[in-house]
Amino acid sequence: MRATVIILCSLLWTQSVKADDGYRLWLRYDQLSTPSVQQYRRLIKSISVQGNTETFDVIRRELSVGCTGLLGTPVIVGDRDDASVIVGVPETSALIRRLRWETELKNLGPEGFRIRTVGNVIVIASSTDTGALYGAFHFLRLLQTDQPIDKLQIDQKPRLKLRILNHWDNLDRSIERGYAGKSLWNWEELPKRVDPRLSDYARANASIGVNGTVLNNVNANARILTAEYIEKVAAIANVFRPYGIRVYLSARFSAPMELSNLPTADPLDPSVIAWWKQKADEIYRAIPDFGGFIVKANSEGQPGPRTYNRTHADGANMLAAAVAPHKGIVMWRAFVYDMKPGYDRAGAAYENLQPFDGKFAPNVLLQVKNGPIDFQPREPFHPLFGAMPRTPLMPELQITQEYLGFSNHFVFLGTMWREFLDADTFAAGRGSTVTKVVSHQRLTGIAGVANTGTDRNWTGHHLLQANWYAFGRLAWNPDISSKQIATEWTTMTLTHEDRAVATIVRLMLESHEAVVNYMTPLGLHHLFWGGHHYGPAPWWDTEKREDWNPVYYHKADAFGIGFDRTKTGSNTVSQYHLPVAQRFADVRTCPEEFLLWFHHVRWDHRMKSGRMLWDELALHYQRGVDWVRATRTTWASLSGVIDPERHEAISKKLVIQERDAVWWRDACLLYFQTFAKRPLPVGVEKPAKTLDEYKAKALEW
Ligand code: GCU
Repeated sequence: MRATVIILCSLLWTQSVKADDGYRLWLRYDQLSTPSVQQYRRLIKSISVQGNTETFDVIRRELSVGCTGLLGTPVIVGDRDDASVIVGVPETSALIRRLRWETELKNLGPEGFRIRTVGNVIVIASSTDTGALYGAFHFLRLLQTDQPIDKLQIDQKPRLKLRILNHWDNLDRSIERGYAGKSLWNWEELPKRVDPRLSDYARANASIGVNGTVLNNVNANARILTAEYIEKVAAIANVFRPYGIRVYLSARFSAPMELSNLPTADPLDPSVIAWWKQKADEIYRAIPDFGGFIVKANSEGQPGPRTYNRTHADGANMLAAAVAPHKGIVMWRAFVYDMKPGYDRAGAAYENLQPFDGKFAPNVLLQVKNGPIDFQPREPFHPLFGAMPRTPLMPELQITQEYLGFSNHFVFLGTMWREFLDADTFAAGRGSTVTKVVSHQRLTGIAGVANTGTDRNWTGHHLLQANWYAFGRLAWNPDISSKQIATEWTTMTLTHEDRAVATIVRLMLESHEAVVNYMTPLGLHHLFWGGHHYGPAPWWDTEKREDWNPVYYHKADAFGIGFDRTKTGSNTVSQYHLPVAQRFADVRTCPEEFLLWFHHVRWDHRMKSGRMLWDELALHYQRGVDWVRATRTTWASLSGVIDPERHEAISKKLVIQERDAVWWRDACLLYFQTFAKRPLPVGVEKPAKTLDEYKAKALEW
């Protein structure tokens, strides 16, 4: 029976993916034609998956489809002891027991794995079936990326415990800041019918080590906590479980009032405390491995403990107590900023949360965006990463491109996240990188706001699948290089042709800087029109909150441009440790990519290049446009190497990207020129339209 199910599922998967429409993501198991395939055929004749859980079934299916496809020859998958590849845990495998790896496997933890060549057998071992699943995916990745497998000696374990995708999905299936179709969760059909695509989603996540999914938007609807929805959530959890993925929910803080008519949601009120405890018990009855809650409190209109004059710690700890008996956690978001005229929003989260360092319950993590404003194309690291040594901090990255051209612009975010993870906070002296800070806490995790949806290719743009992949790989190992991630992804997803791989990887590694150049160079930020965050509107000044207006951020005037965050301005630079603060605060040592983030600088300020600021700014914008144009040409030259369907779809997106890059350059330069009153330097093209025309266009996207 089990074998039939497995074969049927494999057929379904292969059948649904015949066209090169990107559905298979990086899990493409087409026959390899590289020289290494000879070795693979020699060493992988049969596979034995020794274990009888649903997760072992997933492993069996994956290795069967994967190896058969990649090798182009049938590979027998069974549970015999004389197979050439053996997968299991000590309890299920006599061979693994004989190897006496118990101590090593224990040290690798429940999700770690060991892959070793032992005589003429390849052993994939772990202390749990989930670890074995990660090992199986790693093994397949070795084949997919043409690695030798004759002397394997691999021990791996994830560096961060919670590796979670945050879906900003609403119950009507719209997605806040989603650009790849509708939500994957079909609430209307659930729990009766569970879309088979959810297994493919889970499978893709398991292949990169993602082990958690927040199903609903942080701007939460309390309905998700009703019995009706808990049943639906449980149905999703059942699909995810064999893939090692737990579900989490965004909890609306005022849910006790909305769902049960309680007069208050005060976190210290006994009836509120009892309500959440009961709610947690109810959820855990339906979903015994439920992960816990995420909360956006007192931010952008969301309810929270401050409404009742209680602290963020009071709110978080009350929820933490409700889930603690079930080993659940609470991810409390630090994205809190107030509505105070004349203040610096970049300093708000620190002011609101830092005083509570050490005051949170042990099962609370503070989820902090990578930068102090809001997922801008480039931000310095958030000062909280150096300022809360007694609180587990969980970085929040945005995989979806709210401020990076939606699913139209090709931007590989791996390099941007690398920059953030490598930033030195100096929290415990030199070398206290964000990676070190977040991976050396008693509870560790990382979150990524998902870029997935119902689009056939999942992410709306084939190349942006790489950002989902990169998130998972960095969550597993935050030290992995951008080049390695880009190379793996390209080889697995697009082509095995060496020169093409090198070219695409180069483009990926350059892409983030290019987008920063044509959108927000030299530390500029939030020049977007507030309604959609797509196109430029640096002149915008009519939003009701001043910090929702681009003019608040760039502060261009006759003297110069930039936000003074030093002593002469908001002084929020002082939220960083001294060596960092000093470096940023001095206009001579501030890295130029953050110059206008921290300083209001004269238009004729002399830059490192010897040029004056205005000229440098204009040339950055031009450089961004030039990159997109060159990329279009380079991409065209790859037409024979990548299947026509995806090649053409990407080419079309690049046309949009070029149009938008020109739009950004022209709109920003024309507007800033009204203050700088200087001509465009040689090498910068004349704008195609007038400033008024660009102003009229701002509301489009
Ligand atoms: C941004 C984004 C919102 C989102 C918010 C958050 O402000 O524009 O859509 O809700 O971040 O992270 O909570």
